[in-house]
Amino acid sequence: MIRFKWLVPLLAILMFASVSVAKEANTIDELLQMFDESKCKDCHPKQYNEWKESFHSKSVVSSLKGMNNFFSIGVPKEWERKLTKVEVLKCLDCHAPVVNYASEKLAVEIAEMVIRAWSKKDENAKKELAKLNVGCLACHNIKATAPAKGLLGKPEKDAIYTPNLVISPVHKTIPVNTMDKSLFCAQCHGRYVAPDGEQIMCNTLSGSYYNAYVSQGGSETCQDCHMRKNNRGHRFPGGHDLEIVKEGIGFNAEITGVRHTVGKWIPRAIVRVALENRAGHRIPDG
Ligand code: HEC
Ligand code: HEC
Ligand code: HEC
Ligand code: HEC
Ligand code: HEC
Repeated sequence: MIRFKWLVPLLAILMFASVSVAKEANTIDELLQMFDESKCKDCHPKQYNEWKESFHSKSVVSSLKGMNNFFSIGVPKEWERKLTKVEVLKCLDCHAPVVNYASEKLAVEIAEMVIRAWSKKDENAKKELAKLNVGCLACHNIKATAPAKGLLGKPEKDAIYTPNLVISPVHKTIPVNTMDKSLFCAQCHGRYVAPDGEQIMCNTLSGSYYNAYVSQGGSETCQDCHMRKNNRGHRFPGGHDLEIVKEGIGFNAEITGVRHTVGKWIPRAIVRVALENRAGHRIPDG
């Protein structure tokens, strides 16, 4: 009888285990089916076209060199560790958040594809990897609740999170008060602490946003400067975009003509140049 008491919890654990296994994808295409973004552009062409131009749409293929170094040298040679999903997510949790839903095997395969795409110039691998990015659902689902995980819990499957009080007749929409805050962007644009405690400093821009801008009275959010200003929307211009780079640097030149009249007169000019950082953080990032 006593043994029987364990059966129910055991069955529950087994059921839970099989459900969570079923929730993991074994191929990139299965991952894309779980987070299907193929139709978003039909109804939101403006956001789609802008996003397509942004670095969020190519966030794996534009960083192949760095990732190849981490997966083929850093993990196996410098730290002498095995390539596992935990290691792979140290880059891809931010560069392609859907990989959180990949099976252990697929996550490692993706890292191997990165290595082949970079070091063997394997075009097929690169084409597959181009399907991974910071997509619509990375922001509007996977990472939408993370800044207030305790309060909001995990994201609901198939729901679209938005900061606005909008109810779509087409898909489930859930308004959240996280997405219009800087903290939402900062979860990726800042220091990353992996589950094993290792810290990744891919970029530290949010640190300087909070320490050098907000603490000096700066009140604009990332979304104010990078999305709302000049209707930037989903293009997310940054260091690769002259329009916003110009805005970030104040340039002031003062030229004074002087004559030195010690002995011979020598005409001279004194040029004083002031460079001012008007971005909400240190530039450039790195
Ligand atoms: C068949 C059309 C259709 C498809 C497909 C669709 N949407 Fe929508 N969506 C709407 C409509 C209609 C609304 C209501 C508000 C509006 O008209 O913009 C909406 C609202 C939204 C909002 C909230 C807008 C706001 O103003 O806050 C977001 C975010 C959103 N959709 C994202 C997505 C994403 C991401 C996808 C793909 C996974 C998607 N939608 C697919 C029609 C669609
Ligand atoms: C906390 C989230 C996060 C993690 C973890 C992360 N990155 Fe990044 N990475 C970013 C962001 C955000 C940018 C864009 C930064 C910028 O332009 O200021 C970026 C930029 C890059 C770039 C430059 C891309 C370009 O187009 O210039 C490379 C290369 C890169 N990351 C590689 C890696 C590698 C390799 C890892 C794993 C060791 C990693 N990243 C981990 C968020 C992250
Ligand atoms: C990097 C994160 C991120 C990605 C990727 C992203 N969005 Fe958004 N989206 C936001 C944020 C943040 C807002 C709210 C902007 C604001 O408050 O001004 C938003 C707002 C919206 C809105 C409301 C109207 C508007 O433009 O403000 C729609 C519709 C939308 N997104 C659709 C999409 C679609 C479709 C995609 C993919 C093609 C996408 N988003 C990709 C972060 C993202
Ligand atoms: C899921 C993680 C993630 C979130 C959330 C996110 N980003 Fe990014 N962002 C990235 C990565 C990764 C890159 C770098 C892509 C690359 O170059 O490889 C990037 C690139 C950028 C760039 C272009 C940088 C350049 O050098 O040109 C800007 C600007 C930017 N993000 C702003 C934002 C803002 C503003 C938000 C919040 C509304 C946001 N991002 C939310 C991951 C994220
Ligand atoms: C006051 C306006 C302002 C605010 C607030 C702001 N930014 Fe920026 N950001 C800029 C300007 C201007 C630039 C272009 C300067 C440059 O890169 O030379 C820029 C550049 C960037 C870049 C590209 C950096 C590089 O070196 O390539 C990223 C990424 C970025 N911002 C993300 C963010 C994130 C994330 C936040 C919020 C934590 C944020 N920004 C807050 C104005 C702002």
